[in-house]
Amino acid sequence: MRRLTVPAIRDAKGKTPVVVLTAYTIRMAQILDPHCDMLLVGDSLGQVLYGLDSSVPVSLDMMIAHGAAVVRGSYHSLVVIDMPFGSYEESPEQAFRSAARILKETGAAAVKLEGGEAMAPTVAFLTARGIPVVGHVGLTPQAVNILGGYGARGRSEAERAKLIRDAQAIAEAGAFAVVVEGVVEPIAVEITRAIAVPTIGIGGSVECDGQVLVIDDMLGMFDRVPRFVKKYAQLSQQIDDAVADYAADVRARRFPTVEQTYQPKG
Ligand code: KIV
Ligand code: NA
Repeated sequence: MRRLTVPAIRDAKGKTPVVVLTAYTIRMAQILDPHCDMLLVGDSLGQVLYGLDSSVPVSLDMMIAHGAAVVRGSYHSLVVIDMPFGSYEESPEQAFRSAARILKETGAAAVKLEGGEAMAPTVAFLTARGIPVVGHVGLTPQAVNILGGYGARGRSEAERAKLIRDAQAIAEAGAFAVVVEGVVEPIAVEITRAIAVPTIGIGGSVECDGQVLVIDDMLGMFDRVPRFVKKYAQLSQQIDDAVADYAADVRARRFPTVEQTYQPKG
């Protein structure tokens, strides 16, 4: 099975929903790859893997290290790597340098960057130079210091109009898909109808052209998750149970047994 291409994702609009999950490590990429159309190496890895308060401190080197692992662990899904805060906002040229490093050093096919109208010239600059871009509008976590938190966007008429303009600007600049995060549902629907490329919802709408979740959230690795997360497993509980069993076995000298030890021949 050949890896899905950028045109294949773009052409999915109006045909088949696009399945996306985040992945940060090789083993998880291997497990998710056959089920997904895109694997997103999200800068959410800052919080999920590194315990950071936000995605703002995440570095280009971190994204490249994890991005390369996810590419090595997948052969079917299109791998998209987040451009971290500070690696693209200054100018289209800065964005190109960072994005080129990401593609050259990971083997991924595309990058994602946050922002609306202000980032449209950057999206156009990258796509004109061979770098496919996924947009990200609505609740853009890298802007947490401006937004003041992670609440849903689009509750006022002014915000609604701005969000539609943002999504249109990014799509018209050449993005091949746009993540729509944390907006009131009718706006996610409106954006989906207004742009020609797939919308990938997270806290969006079932009418978005695709969906994405943070893998650790949907697997139940955390007790507290945002409203838009559906937990498909309770892994933290399973891990807790397994580790409790292991600790009890060690303390009771029940592990290792003859099955887990090397015995001399004969
Ligand atoms: O960083 C991330 O995981 C993301 C997705 C949730 C869209 O940007
Ligand atoms: Na992100």
